[in-house]
Amino acid sequence: MKARELLRLAPVMPVIVVPDAGLAVDMARALVDGGLPVLEITLRTPAAFEAMRRIRDAVPGAVVGAGTVLDRAQWQRAVDSGAVFGVSPGLTPELASAARAGGLPFLPGVATASEAMRAADEGFDTLKLFPAEAVGGRALLRSLHGPLPHLQFCPTGGIHAGNAAEYLALPNVGCVGGSWITPEALVAARDWDRVRELAAQAAALRPGASAR
Ligand code: 3PG
Repeated sequence: MKARELLRLAPVMPVIVVPDAGLAVDMARALVDGGLPVLEITLRTPAAFEAMRRIRDAVPGAVVGAGTVLDRAQWQRAVDSGAVFGVSPGLTPELASAARAGGLPFLPGVATASEAMRAADEGFDTLKLFPAEAVGGRALLRSLHGPLPHLQFCPTGGIHAGNAAEYLALPNVGCVGGSWITPEALVAARDWDRVRELAAQAAALRPGASAR
């Protein structure tokens, strides 16, 4: 699968911080049942690798990937733990070569035209715009589409139920990412019914027709 195809699987990619691997399977099931199969498990907690293994083994409908991948060693460990795609807030030469070598979809993070051009030079044409709202949000994406129409984005950072549809209407946005579907309080309360509802609302959002 190419990164661009990954973006077509669901309009929203939950950005998940797993506090405890014991919660991962129930959380993933709620998201997949709600209609969001593409799950970004951020490597921000020690539980992330074990969480990916458990989801891979117990939630067949999930497409599990690693987020916040910062270097080659993390990417390798994520792949060994079952990640089938990767996301990073940025891009380094080391990460670019590791991601290319693995052949799995990889979304490097960019925030400017030059970073997007460098990522494209490295072979990545599907990018995470990060942190989306802070660096210009929809106005920036609209502006980048003119000179860089061959690039597709998954913006994340500051996106929520109230602004996701406006991002998805842009021609260069394939999906959006965000943590609003798995808020810390709902996860702590193990409120999987509510997580499933939030996922279903997000899954009902549709990308702009020209992004397809
Ligand atoms: C990310 O890691 O992609 C972002 O931090 C998610 O941003 P959000 O918490 O604003 O959705």
